[in-house]
Amino acid sequence: PSDNPPAAELLAWYDRHRRDLPWRAAPGQPRDPYRVWLSEVMLQQTTVAAVGPRFARFLARFPSVQALAAADWAEVAEEWAGLGYYARARNLHACARAVAAAGRFPCNREGLAALPGIGPYTAAAVAAIAFDAPLVPLDGNVERVTARIFRVEDPLPGAKPRLAELAQGFMADGAASARPGDFVQALFDLGATICTPRSPACGICPWQGPCAARAAGVAADLPRKAPK
Ligand code: ADE
Repeated sequence: PSDNPPAAELLAWYDRHRRDLPWRAAPGQPRDPYRVWLSEVMLQQTTVAAVGPRFARFLARFPSVQALAAADWAEVAEEWAGLGYYARARNLHACARAVAAAGRFPCNREGLAALPGIGPYTAAAVAAIAFDAPLVPLDGNVERVTARIFRVEDPLPGAKPRLAELAQGFMADGAASARPGDFVQALFDLGATICTPRSPACGICPWQGPCAARAAGVAADLPRKAPK
């Protein structure tokens, strides 16, 4: 919609304040789909802080998708120890074998979603971050930022489809679709460091001007949750 917050301002903020996370390529450097995919799978169940060292260790042991595919399940399980949700490690291993057999990573959402255990979120995240597909994966951070910017008062989980549509709409801004991977990670960082769940730091937010929730004084209350 024409009332999108300006993507250029979020990207300018990201260029200055982006978190230096172990799975992120340096600006302008090629992105390795294997690293992006591995980080997204790990981050689904574990915090950014906890993933950091485990990601590095996993990569040191299995430096490429071919190396992971060639490993025995016992080795993968051993390296996954403590991360929990072993079904994800099983899928990771099965995925690596499918990619190694195909000879390359699928480079779009549809191809990624056809791999074992890759759901809509992971397919969109890898397509955007590794291949610059103009997609906005909806995780908790993106949900929160979107609910606040547009002041979506409907509670979760019912509001999810609307939030997904609004979040995808960010890509209508040419500044976002020129740098989809950076834009998506900028949304993650904004949600993790400024637009936080309980006490958002609206005073230093690059999107404070266009934020409808801030204007109404309800930023900290959104997104609302339906009573259980
Ligand atoms: N959460 C999920 N994916 C992430 C990423 N690529 N960077 C930071 N936080 C994330």
